[in-house]
Amino acid sequence: MPVTIVVGAQWGDEGKGRVVDDLASRANVVARYNGGDNAGHTIVAEGHTLGLHLVPSGILNPQAICLIGGGTVINPLRLLEEIATLRNAGIEVTPERLKIAAGAHLILPTHRALDGAQELTLGEQAIGTTARGIGPTYADKARRVGLRAALLRDPDTFATQARTLIITHNERLINLFQLKPQLVGPQVEQLRDAAAQLTPYLVDGAAFITDALAENKEILCEGAQGTLLDLDHGTYPFVTSSSPIAGGALTGLGFGPKEVTRVVGVAKAYTTRVGAGAFPTELLDATGDRLRDIGHEYGVTTGRPRRCGWLDTVILRYAAQVNGLTEIALTKLDVLSGIPTLKIAVAYEINGAITPHFPAEWGNEIIAAAKPIYEELPGWEADLRAIRRREDLPTEAQAYVARIEALVATRISFIGVGPERESLILP
Ligand code: IMP
Repeated sequence: MPVTIVVGAQWGDEGKGRVVDDLASRANVVARYNGGDNAGHTIVAEGHTLGLHLVPSGILNPQAICLIGGGTVINPLRLLEEIATLRNAGIEVTPERLKIAAGAHLILPTHRALDGAQELTLGEQAIGTTARGIGPTYADKARRVGLRAALLRDPDTFATQARTLIITHNERLINLFQLKPQLVGPQVEQLRDAAAQLTPYLVDGAAFITDALAENKEILCEGAQGTLLDLDHGTYPFVTSSSPIAGGALTGLGFGPKEVTRVVGVAKAYTTRVGAGAFPTELLDATGDRLRDIGHEYGVTTGRPRRCGWLDTVILRYAAQVNGLTEIALTKLDVLSGIPTLKIAVAYEINGAITPHFPAEWGNEIIAAAKPIYEELPGWEADLRAIRRREDLPTEAQAYVARIEALVATRISFIGVGPERESLILP
């Protein structure tokens, strides 16, 4: 069973970190394959609440080696901060335990400035990005002018190339956005210093995975964001700039599809979204507020309140197909306790026609026109947080889980029933 991929089945923030943390206890390698510090995984462990952004959640499992893969984008300064935070919490982060793929692209301070500037220019059409420079960094990668982590090995060359790119970015900030340029000298010096500190962590990411596969090691691939934020298969243009879907693990880490034995789609028992874009089952009422309050639905990275709504199985069926899910991990079921009647979207009505499909490729306007067709199920009162076996859940909660399995034609393996590391019903 060499490769398991964990992927977000909705718009991100599904609670992947918890599921990865559990699966990582049996993995030799945990590899993050896409995105950058736009992600945020919260892990509650040994009294610490840790907000991880780049380092894979597997870092809490001492036997696992963590890889930040070639498909990711890395802000060197933020990565050093994150390593320091983990060390302060008593977690061992050494070059033996954490590896950085040489093919990952580097985020410069001016990428962040450009991200903010582009959003300002879009005005009402803004995507609502995390302003971490993710889009501009992937854009530079596609334009073939980006800086790869391999450069960190040679801080002088890195400093020279970073300087050139920062100057180009500054020209865009001035000429396209009428903004002040960023200071070049101090930034380049800071980056040179960061390069020297990060060099020991560098590896050839694809070669590292190839060797691990040859030794029949258990590899766990950790996706950031979610299926509907995928650049190709998400709700374009309100998406991120990487490939969070399972296919992104293959391109982001460098191995073939025949190695994959398990694809776990993580889905919340309801739906949330941050940033702009259509959201068919969104609740702009007291139930939405209740989900936000009880579920603590505020972004780990930006602190923004998340938009909340009913569970949407049109989305989950789409995620099952696009990712080839072998199972679903359903998180935050406990948040639904106390809601008398629960709704699940089973299909959409779009311009008078009923469809079971999520119309991702037709774009935001069509998704916004979709009216969900709901099925109603009875809710339950009981607090679920101490429950550790599926058969001990209230019968209504068992029926809710079983109905999702039937509608998505996919088995639910893990069920999250609370924020603690151990609040998980295991397969
Ligand atoms: P970007 O990834 O910062 O460019 O943001 C693009 C879109 O993806 C915005 O709607 C963000 O709110 C969303 N996004 C990016 N990362 C995450 C995440 O980890 N969770 C949820 N939404 C995210």
